[in-house]
Amino acid sequence: MNYCENDRETGGLSGLRPGIALLLALVLAASPAAMARDIGAFYGEVCSNCHGKNMEGAQAPGLLKPEQFKHGVDDASLARSIREGYPTNNMVAWKMVLSDAEIRAMVVLIREKQEQFRKGQIAFPKPVDGQVVESKLGKFRIKNVAEGLNTPWSIAFLPDGKMLVTELRGTLRVIEAGKPMPPPVEGTPQVRARGQGGLMEVALHPGYRTNGWIYLTISDPYTDENGNSLGLTAVARGHLQDNRWTDGQLIFQAPHNFYKPSDIHFGSRIVFDGEGHLFFSMGERGVKEDAQDLSRPNGKIHRIFDDGRIPPDNPFVGVSNAFPTIWCYGNRNPQGLTRHPVTGDIWEAEHGPRGGDEINWIRKGLNYGWPVICWGMDYDGAPISDFTAKEGMEQPVTYWTPSIAVCAVNFYTGDKFPNWKYNLFATALAQQELRRLVIDGHQVVEQEILFKNIGRVRYLITGPDGCIYVALNAPDRIVRLEPVES
Ligand code: HEC
Repeated sequence: MNYCENDRETGGLSGLRPGIALLLALVLAASPAAMARDIGAFYGEVCSNCHGKNMEGAQAPGLLKPEQFKHGVDDASLARSIREGYPTNNMVAWKMVLSDAEIRAMVVLIREKQEQFRKGQIAFPKPVDGQVVESKLGKFRIKNVAEGLNTPWSIAFLPDGKMLVTELRGTLRVIEAGKPMPPPVEGTPQVRARGQGGLMEVALHPGYRTNGWIYLTISDPYTDENGNSLGLTAVARGHLQDNRWTDGQLIFQAPHNFYKPSDIHFGSRIVFDGEGHLFFSMGERGVKEDAQDLSRPNGKIHRIFDDGRIPPDNPFVGVSNAFPTIWCYGNRNPQGLTRHPVTGDIWEAEHGPRGGDEINWIRKGLNYGWPVICWGMDYDGAPISDFTAKEGMEQPVTYWTPSIAVCAVNFYTGDKFPNWKYNLFATALAQQELRRLVIDGHQVVEQEILFKNIGRVRYLITGPDGCIYVALNAPDRIVRLEPVES
């Protein structure tokens, strides 16, 4: 898809005022018989947001491998999945939008793609090891550091230069560049590895050299009295000893009545402020309204002490029914959270719906608006809100419509790329790109796409050597950006 920053409209409706375009989109969507759709184009515009451009899978499962289908592989099962959906997991019941004939055409399209895949006719872009890229402020090389991982989610550097890497399905590894893949660390917390959840963040305590604490976020599993599998973001810490997780503690775990059946929107980044506090993000778990409800933990940024105690100066401590760890609220799926190395401000990236990915400056007690105000719409084209701004709700620092599927954000703090110092880097899953954002105060004044289409970009961090390390998914690997002398 071709687009430019902050261009709110795309495609055929681009000339219209937003309100009218939305209304039109709604009318078209609501009357399946009114117009025969090009089903390939519909897939590309709508389904691809979750299942990937080539059905390879993205935030939702891939559709190319029949043996991996969860809900049946015959045509009737496929049509039923599309028609009725799995609403708790964001898979819409498409009968509201597509006619039976169009659903049938979609099944045929999926079969065609599966056949092309089987014959090896769908090729996925692969990063070429050593590829040199020319950027605005100089050349850099993309070097492979680790392969053979399974959905690497986050990276933290140990003082000896080794990397701690989480894999979403539940494993933590201590990786040394250029060495064979080691076995997972034993004894890490059990996770609910489903959909977007599992083992997510890994972060070191700022005093790691003396106290050795390593922090993780997990989708914490719970089975209720009816046998339903539920999960919610929890924060664990422990020590690493001879490739074993020891002294494990769960330092944040909400009461089980807040756990959710959905497999989406866990948030899950951790950031320390160097003054004994830990901030972590929790997505709204697919229940939009909860983000505005202070009695619930989901859809919020939280602040706790590094041992799990609740800071008495948190904004909602003592407010009746409010969750006392909440720092701010109205956040959809905050998969990026970082602290400015100079000002100490907390910056957040929030994965929006269809349109409306956000970068926010996070402050105490404020309401970031989801789902009351929003720059996007729902994945099926249904509107979420007619408000993009409201009194008492914060505007993002910047937003992306159409979405890039923003994930992690981090400031560059090394010396290898002096021109990039303290720029904010943002990773994008669906658009498969790494962005460099120049920040002036609390504004984004310039953006550059550094690379594109070599995999879903999950995470980035400045390494101890001053290079930028990036976790890519599909194909799964970690690469390093190194400067190239010109
Ligand atoms: C907002 C994200 C999203 C969008 C958009 C979306 N899906 Fe899905 N879809 C999912 C998720 C998540 C699942 C897995 C649900 C589950 O297993 O609980 C799924 C499951 C499916 C399945 C069943 C796969 C299986 O394992 O049995 C099919 C088929 C499917 N989707 C087709 C489509 C088609 C066709 C479209 C477009 C009309 C579409 N989806 C749009 C998220 C999405």
